[in-house]
Amino acid sequence: MRVLNIVTSPRGERSASIAIADSFLFEYKKKIKGLVVDTLDIWTESLPEFGAEAIGAKYKGVSGEPMTRSERATWEKIRELASRFEKADRILLAIPMWNFSFPYKLKQLIDLVCQRNMLFIFDGKEYGPALNIDKAFVAYVRGQSEEAGFQTVPPPGFEYVTKYIEFWLHFIGVHSITAMTVEHTWDGRALDMIDEAKKQAAGLAKQF
Ligand SMILES: Cc1cc2nc3c(=O)[nH]c(=O)nc-3n(C[C@H](O)[C@H](O)[C@H](O)COP(=O)(O)O)c2cc1C
Repeated sequence: MRVLNIVTSPRGERSASIAIADSFLFEYKKKIKGLVVDTLDIWTESLPEFGAEAIGAKYKGVSGEPMTRSERATWEKIRELASRFEKADRILLAIPMWNFSFPYKLKQLIDLVCQRNMLFIFDGKEYGPALNIDKAFVAYVRGQSEEAGFQTVPPPGFEYVTKYIEFWLHFIGVHSITAMTVEHTWDGRALDMIDEAKKQAAGLAKQF
């Protein structure tokens, strides 16, 4: 069994989301003997920019036109990243909230790997998944909570993060998602909240 562990916080040992993911993995390794963990850290992976070059490579990839040397290098990196999703039996994602959404590097990864005939299919009429992954575990982590008021807009909570991430995981072919949320990771309650969240993640790993 192979789990793709996508690290989305750049904060290393100070990161609450990484600590929660690690607690999940520690328990999951006890359950699944020989578990292979493929850690994809989006902050150290040197993800190519998804600019004109990547888009050029994408269209040439589809039409079969010859690519420039650097377009080919970008396309190869895209294929390599996508292959890590293709090989995965499970996906693990722990996501910090950044400005009510998720860190921009995670969107960069999604824009790179979410290619037709790699992660999804499209026959001109209908989209379908290209992957067949039983389960994903997602932990959504944020510094505040609903306690912080808003003057002019209703508080969104985790809405903007969860809806998109869960849509995308189902879209590419993840069948079921186990999710948890964690709040107050940057105030006086942080240590207790993170400790509690690590226990919850470990408990969920036992049933995953
Ligand atoms: C750029 C940035 C934006 C953030 N935006 C929010 C936010 O909108 N709402 C919130 O509750 N916390 C916000 N936070 C706090 C983080 O969600 C919190 O510190 C979380 O624990 C970060 O995850 P990490 O510890 O794994 O890095 C933000 C933090 C950063 C660095």
